[in-house]
Amino acid sequence: MERTRWYKDAVIYQIYPRSFCDSNGDGIGDIRGIISKLDYLKELGVTCVWLSPCYKSPNDDNGYDISNYRDIMDEFGTLEDWQEMVDGMHERGIKLVMDLVVNHTSDEHEWFKQSRLSKDNPYRDYYFWRKGRGKDGKKPPNNWSSRFSGSAWEYDETTGEFYLHLFSKKQPDLNWDNPKVRKEVADICNYWLEKGVDGFRCDVIIYISKEEGLPDGKFNPMLCGDEHFVIGPHYHEYIHELYENSWSKYDCMTVGEGQGIKRKDAEAMVAEDREELDCIFTFEHQECDAVLTAVPRPFKLTRLKKILNNWQHLPDNCWNSLFLENHDYSRSIPRFGKVEYRKQVAKMLAVIMQCQKGTPYVYQGEEIGMSNIEGLDREDYKDIISINIYDLAKKMFPPLVPIVRWALRKRARDNARTPMQWSAAENAGFTTGKPWMMVNPNYTEVNVEQQQNDPDSILNFYKKLIAYRKGNEVIRYGTFEEYFPKSNKIFCYERNYNGKRLFVVGSFSDKNVVFKLPAGYSFKTSKLVLNNYDDAPEELSAYTLRPYETVVYEVE
Ligand code: GLC
Ligand code: CA
Repeated sequence: MERTRWYKDAVIYQIYPRSFCDSNGDGIGDIRGIISKLDYLKELGVTCVWLSPCYKSPNDDNGYDISNYRDIMDEFGTLEDWQEMVDGMHERGIKLVMDLVVNHTSDEHEWFKQSRLSKDNPYRDYYFWRKGRGKDGKKPPNNWSSRFSGSAWEYDETTGEFYLHLFSKKQPDLNWDNPKVRKEVADICNYWLEKGVDGFRCDVIIYISKEEGLPDGKFNPMLCGDEHFVIGPHYHEYIHELYENSWSKYDCMTVGEGQGIKRKDAEAMVAEDREELDCIFTFEHQECDAVLTAVPRPFKLTRLKKILNNWQHLPDNCWNSLFLENHDYSRSIPRFGKVEYRKQVAKMLAVIMQCQKGTPYVYQGEEIGMSNIEGLDREDYKDIISINIYDLAKKMFPPLVPIVRWALRKRARDNARTPMQWSAAENAGFTTGKPWMMVNPNYTEVNVEQQQNDPDSILNFYKKLIAYRKGNEVIRYGTFEEYFPKSNKIFCYERNYNGKRLFVVGSFSDKNVVFKLPAGYSFKTSKLVLNNYDDAPEELSAYTLRPYETVVYEVE
């Protein structure tokens, strides 16, 4: 099978199914809801969808805890609905990438239910079961922490042992050292690929290989144990094996979630000749306004630019992903700009990201400039992390609660999970029932229907940008050179492919900023191709950029 690497030309739209569109009024988005919006996606111009998990799940972590990999969650519909959705996508020239969540299963998966029954159950070794420490054996086997707070071990009465869970206790980690587990994973991939899936977004894939003996981690008050399982000892071997047994046989794409990894690791993960993953999501830039993901700090443009610039210089045999939003981060407008300038900020961010090298992702609602809900509180949160952190603070040290509340308002994953705003109708047209999660009250102004009718809207700008990007060789292959790296107001770079150049400027300031071409910069001709105010000069030499203004020129 020739693998065409179609993803290098793709623009991918991420759907978080629970919040996308509800077709039957139960307040929960579903597959028939997605089917009803396929023409919308086609008009937007995206060429691929990444669908967050839609498999059977008790929803401890909204589908990232899977109890049956070969069937669809009851609330989302049936396999027949799913097939109709894929066929509908393919008819419209849209590919489908599914979420592959195989670092862990749900504790309600049949394998785990078997595995917890007895120490000699044939499924015991599908997971990590260990004796506890201490006199009574009630202390966890090591000091690793769950990414969702607390110990990564849960005691189980039935056999008096602990099992490992790097996420919630309802997400036990699979033991990839067991060849049977690796075979199961390849079979799951092949099952979906045979049904027509075009690839996988590989959830927390960097955690699959744990160091033998599961040794204690270095002391770390937040996340302990990382050095023993982030790209662990057999990571490359297991992924290559999966490539051989599944992915290599299809013209599919795989993108790995590379939380916390650096350039060197990323290069080893996606270099083409290694036959492992095709591309990677890196998250370093998500820290430009936070530390350790959760703790907010003021946004600094120079920090963001430095990180993105570094990732633009991956070797030619590696491929990167371009994204600001997904279901795990709050909305980008309030992070990087002022909400009063919603339209300008949204368009400028889209330009700055999508004109770089790599595959761009648009997260549902980003294309209409959805933003965070003001003033969310404990009772509004649905996400397991938000709830855990809040309750932990309350239990351990109540004076921390106001700080946690403040941090969550800025960083909570719930911010990205509010229902998609389709229209000004009740509940933003997302459902005719009671939505599973609060709708952002700004839906009367920020919604798809309104923007479809406004030629100057964010939505229509996205269509233009995506269309411009399509088949554009400079964007696909061009080199990346940054100008004014020390400026905290302007993001400016050039892409160059065989002398064809694209000059991109974006202001991150809410004030006017005087812009001058870089010293010695010259061009024979220039043509304005994208901008976010009514007017901009046809040629750029000295120019005052208005708040969050962006301009893109083709220069020769
Ligand atoms: C990934 C997902 C996140 C999930 C976690 C555990 O980071 O993006 O939503 O909670 O993995 O599966
Ligand atoms: Ca529904």
